Amino acid sequence: MVKSYGCQMNVYDATRMADLLGREGYAETASEDDADLVILNTCHIREKAAEKIYSELGKLAIAKRALNAQGRDMKIVVAGCVAQAEGEEVLKRQRAVDLVVGPQSYHRLPELLRQAASGARIADTDFAVEDKFRSLPAPSRPQIRARGVSAFVTVQEGCDKFCSFCVVPYTRGAEASRPVAEIVSEAQRLVDGGVCEITLIGQNVNAYRGLDEHGRESSLPDLLDRLARIPALTRLRYTTSHPVDMAQALIDAHGAIPKLMPYVHLPVQSGSDRILKAMNRKHGADAYLSIVERLRLARPDIALSSDFIVGFPGESDADFEATMALVRNVGFASSFSFKYSPRPGTPAADRDDQIDETVKSERLAALQALLEAQRQTFNAATVGRDVGVLFEKPGRHEGQIAGKSPYMQAVHVEGPMEAIGREARVKVIAAGSNSLAGRLLREEAKA
Ligand code: SAH
Ligand code: SF4
Ligand code: F3S
Repeated sequence: MVKSYGCQMNVYDATRMADLLGREGYAETASEDDADLVILNTCHIREKAAEKIYSELGKLAIAKRALNAQGRDMKIVVAGCVAQAEGEEVLKRQRAVDLVVGPQSYHRLPELLRQAASGARIADTDFAVEDKFRSLPAPSRPQIRARGVSAFVTVQEGCDKFCSFCVVPYTRGAEASRPVAEIVSEAQRLVDGGVCEITLIGQNVNAYRGLDEHGRESSLPDLLDRLARIPALTRLRYTTSHPVDMAQALIDAHGAIPKLMPYVHLPVQSGSDRILKAMNRKHGADAYLSIVERLRLARPDIALSSDFIVGFPGESDADFEATMALVRNVGFASSFSFKYSPRPGTPAADRDDQIDETVKSERLAALQALLEAQRQTFNAATVGRDVGVLFEKPGRHEGQIAGKSPYMQAVHVEGPMEAIGREARVKVIAAGSNSLAGRLLREEAKA
């Protein structure tokens, strides 16, 4: 079993690991109790994320000892960004761990597991992005079908931005883009297996610069345009973008490509120019607001989401107020917000003007209250609208099916199970706190 933490890239990597091991004869289990192999696909973004992994490993070590006492074994693998950042440290800190494998070397898992079977304890954290994608086997049709109608495809990995708070450039390495043909064939295979929504992912997805068949550089809008030509692919998304790489051509793509969903995750982190500068974000609040304005011009029904950090070293009340002002100005559909967490090895962690925990907590609470109110306002504004819903699974009650709106809102309707796996028009009739209720429009209900 593979347990994933952190961002969507880890979710994607987890599916690739499961597909790879599926070929080796492993079957996925629902719980770790009856697994021969447990892979923790870890995240290192905040301090708590890494600590959670070590406590999880402590529990697995106990389970492993119990199995060993019955003459059975459980191999424990630590993958993902904690693996990359800590390498052999993980093997030292937790004796029960058999393998440590970084995000750029998991394609070697079958070989590493064979070595682990004879008792070796190895940490493999080499960087080899291109090797990785080339050596991973394509998923089989049953593997794709089992995962449903929406899929991620990694198109770009790594980060050259070095925001002063962030570990990603150290755990994922330098920016690297996959070639266009490789992405198109992966997308086509997913679509042939029943997928109709693809989210292109990358740590800086809009910095995508992949080579096409003629050896020319393609940008993200070029790639989106190309993928939009796959007939049975009905929805395209991309995440996560950096404001600095939000080129006008990408903004224009939102007006030109109907399959591109009107929803953009564009983290701003702070609304204060002074803090943005200290974060090394390389843009100010006005540049962000200008992007939002141009996106709305290109696609008037577009909605935005963002990530925020409060309590970055040196953040004053006025800086925090600037963040609140930016939020009021934009109006976000949904957002993630975090207290600044010092990460060893990053420049901001060494600053001597760290903010008091209680101040961080107060600011986070104020920001989250505002963001939550905006989310509710946005959801309420969808009531009465006709939207496309991509149905993914049965709903909680008998006769109900559930899916996602273009804005990633969960939507429930009364409807036939056959509607699962495709998109249908829905009239939104009510907004609850975490989902919308709707009614299938008549032509769709009959189909
Ligand atoms: N590549 C993306 C995000 C990567 S990490 C980007 O450029 O925006 C996801 C989010 O985690 C970040 O947007 C940020 O809000 C948060 N984050 C990263 N490092 C953090 C830290 N040290 N403390 C608190 N939050 C952090
Ligand atoms: Fe981290 Fe900044 Fe790179 Fe995003 S852009 S991954 S926040 S360094
Ligand atoms: Fe976490 Fe690594 Fe993603 S640190 S957010 S899993 S890139």
